[in-house]
Amino acid sequence: MSNHDRDKKCPVTYLTTDFGAPVPDNQNSLTAGPRGPLLSQDVWLHEKLGNFVREVIPERRMHAKGSGAFGTFTVTNDITRYTRAAIFSKVGKQTEMFARFTTVAGERGAADAERDIRGFALKFYTEEGNWDMVGNNTPVFFIRDPRKFPDLNKVVKRDPRTNLRSATNNWDWWTLLPEALHQVTIVMSDRGIPKSYRHMHGFGSHTYSFWNEAGERYWVKFHFRTQQGIENLSDAEAAEAIGNDRETHQRDLYEAIERGDFPKWKMYVQIMPEEDAGKVPYHPFDLTKVWPKGDYPLIEVGEFELNRNPENFFADVEQSAFAPSNLVPGIGASPDKMLQSRLFNYADAQRYRLGTNYQQIPVNKARCPVNSNHRDGIGRVDGNYGSLPHYEPNSFNQWQEQPQFREPPLKITGDADWWNFRDDDSNYYKQPGDLFRLMTPEKQQLLFDNTARAMGDAPDFIKRRHVENCTKADPAYGAGVEAALRKLGAFAGEDSPNSLD
Ligand code: HEM
Repeated sequence: MSNHDRDKKCPVTYLTTDFGAPVPDNQNSLTAGPRGPLLSQDVWLHEKLGNFVREVIPERRMHAKGSGAFGTFTVTNDITRYTRAAIFSKVGKQTEMFARFTTVAGERGAADAERDIRGFALKFYTEEGNWDMVGNNTPVFFIRDPRKFPDLNKVVKRDPRTNLRSATNNWDWWTLLPEALHQVTIVMSDRGIPKSYRHMHGFGSHTYSFWNEAGERYWVKFHFRTQQGIENLSDAEAAEAIGNDRETHQRDLYEAIERGDFPKWKMYVQIMPEEDAGKVPYHPFDLTKVWPKGDYPLIEVGEFELNRNPENFFADVEQSAFAPSNLVPGIGASPDKMLQSRLFNYADAQRYRLGTNYQQIPVNKARCPVNSNHRDGIGRVDGNYGSLPHYEPNSFNQWQEQPQFREPPLKITGDADWWNFRDDDSNYYKQPGDLFRLMTPEKQQLLFDNTARAMGDAPDFIKRRHVENCTKADPAYGAGVEAALRKLGAFAGEDSPNSLD
């Protein structure tokens, strides 16, 4: 019975224990006499309380608060010359999918309308395996090296002493990383608080790769453009929204789908021939930079619509597991070291969060045959490949590898070292400056004011450092942020003891 069917006539269900025995009384515990103590043979009470304390599973380390829905992806343009991926094999082809949108810093119970980036995770159930595109609503990210990811998590979450979010921790760290300015500029802009998940674009952000039937490789970036139009909230509108309803994004997505107003996004790709990677004036695998659309225009691929709400939030949304390592033939990774670290880290997190056999949970289960020959483990419920041989090679035709799906070779060279990534394309200020110069004066003013408010009670030397970073992107950017801080009375203009110069 679904939630919306509750008012309809539905068949009676009779309460049983987990093992099917009838429960005669679900109101009164078993006691010795009307005022006496509990009897330990009240096994239903033990089962009920035992289950209750195990209901909560670990929340995702980032992106804990989210909303999900099922949908359909349809190919609208032929890109088979770039990729052999089965999902794109024919115009008009449809593939079932599941999407989860999230805020990043907030815990599982956080309010939706917060200034933050948004996660944009898509799972396509293709006939050659699940393809997960685990992106965000921004084309770039705060960092370039995965070593800094746990620190990012710490600074956007809570202070170890106060258990409060801390503007000092947050802005101290961001302003010490010049490569963060591009992402910080986007988060502080008018796009920093989408009105709802339906009103934002999505991006794969990283450079991925395509390879085609001829074994030719292309570098690729994915874009998903909302067909609902971009709509955002100001800080004041967001405060009011949260005051009235902490679940605005969840409610909006759920209700739109229930009333048949299915949200849609168009999928586009930017394609870079393999050999261009060494020629472009920016690092093509640097997640803090975009590829200008003038160099690599958007090519339409298809459209997806979300058309079915999950029947049960925990079953499908909380237990969903997206991983950048879920790639399919024709779609591969790239040398981006951020992406490389994600290829390991997500499945690792999910084995911990959901258990070794999390790939059997219906929302995660591939819709094509799965024959991995991984066996056993806690929670195995699918027959465990029965009596088939459990080793390979064997003489019984089991677990045959499929060389026709080999990715073309990728040339890799270099001496092992802790290479300083900032020595390689350290032009961190050009792209945030370009973005700033594209904004209308009104949007620039919003950027200044949002930044000033977000910097809150961070000390002056941190504010000064941010003003200096912004000035390097564009003198008007730095001046605007400084003026907004002064207007708030939040800046005395102290010098930075830690200047980046
Ligand atoms: C969730 C790690 C960067 C998008 C997660 C999770 C981990 C993680 C451990 C929780 C997974 C789970 O429990 O299911 C990392 C690391 C990163 C990184 C180590 C960099 C080194 C990124 C980037 C993006 C991104 C660059 C987007 C372009 C997401 C999304 C989710 C997520 C959308 C939520 C997926 C869902 O809805 O279940 N990340 N992340 N992450 N991450 Fe990342």
